[in-house]
Amino acid sequence: MATVTCQGLEILYSRQQIAERVAEMGAEITRDLHGEKLVMVGVLKGAAFFLVDLSRAIQADATYDFVATSSYGNGLRSSGAVKLIKDLDQPIEGKNVLIVEDILDTGLTLAYLRKLFLQQRPKTLRIATLLDKPSRRIEPIEADYVGFSIPNLFVIGYGMDYGERYRNLPDICILDPGQPE
Ligand code: IMP
Ligand code: MG
Repeated sequence: MATVTCQGLEILYSRQQIAERVAEMGAEITRDLHGEKLVMVGVLKGAAFFLVDLSRAIQADATYDFVATSSYGNGLRSSGAVKLIKDLDQPIEGKNVLIVEDILDTGLTLAYLRKLFLQQRPKTLRIATLLDKPSRRIEPIEADYVGFSIPNLFVIGYGMDYGERYRNLPDICILDPGQPE
């Protein structure tokens, strides 16, 4: 049986490569926790697959929550402004918090969330991103845990979308090998 993969698009990271890297990230996060509890905060919707897999690779007393922001609209172009569409369900004061994001791109989303969460005085606040596009950064922000650092490509699959499509592809695929703005 043929493997269903990137629907004819170029593959960037296969499901096996993703699984291996997520396992490594989980082990690193587990080590850094030194036995303490963790609250994972996924950024909807793109980070949902990553959060679910990463949570199973972390050996700790962990809970998870989700927030949703708007930044990209329905296409390739960022609107620039970030706003919160869905807030945390539980307070994070005094907690070890890990923000879980699919892609760190311009940094606008994570800079906004970091500032917002720091106001709630968590014990620690760290960031895990599956993909990092350092060449696109507008806000000076870095993740504590990066799955893969990639050039300026538009990617889809493993939770990531183009106009809400393609999230269910199990691999990470390149939609446009050009330079989307
Ligand atoms: P930011 O520019 O760092 O604020 O990134 C915001 C969000 O844009 C990311 O969390 C993704 O959801 C989305 N995004 C950025 N680059 C891509 C991409 O290549 N494919 C799909 N979504 C993307
Ligand atoms: Mg996202």
